[in-house]
Amino acid sequence: MNFRFVAVAAFAAGLFPLVGLAQSPPPAPASPPASVAPAAPKVYIPGLEQFMNVILTEHNKLWFAAKARNWPLAAYELGEIKEVMGDVQDFVPVFKSLPLAQMMDAVVTKEIVDLEKAIEEKDFKKFAAGYDALNKACNTCHAGTENEFVVIKRPTTPAFTNQDYRPHKK
Ligand code: HEC
Repeated sequence: MNFRFVAVAAFAAGLFPLVGLAQSPPPAPASPPASVAPAAPKVYIPGLEQFMNVILTEHNKLWFAAKARNWPLAAYELGEIKEVMGDVQDFVPVFKSLPLAQMMDAVVTKEIVDLEKAIEEKDFKKFAAGYDALNKACNTCHAGTENEFVVIKRPTTPAFTNQDYRPHKK
């Protein structure tokens, strides 16, 4: 037996268990008993405060869009706020036993319609008054849900500086 043969034999012997493992059939997947339904995939529903923080962002942008007289952007941001409020109604209709969906309609509908009119008429003075009225409505609901410490007001600086609020000239 020369040295080379011994080395190869030892190598092969060392490898053999691995090869054996690789060749053994994979374990059968554990199938659940017929009576147990497969787990439904998890669905992520954001917490109410996450919807609210998105509204807060768009509410900030809405102000600076209107201030720059960028009416299409203002209309867009108000539309997004309405959309998220609709999501709140769909996904969090009840909050701490309070009928949040109905409260939403009762509290902000008139204010949003007035703001839409001001944007359509491109009237900043009307818009600013409507914006303050909307803020009051936000705060009415916060007070009515024991969140009176969440107070909404006019912003003084844009939340983001990497979006240009000036009207886009075609
Ligand atoms: C129909 C009721 C209702 C209306 C209308 C409403 N909110 Fe809220 N908001 C809530 C509730 C309830 C909470 C507390 C959420 C929680 O505890 O998870 C909240 C919380 C918040 C918060 C706190 C989130 C945080 O993490 O700091 C902000 C910001 C906010 N709202 C913004 C607004 C703005 C802006 C408006 C109006 C454009 C508005 N909300 C209108 C019910 C409302």
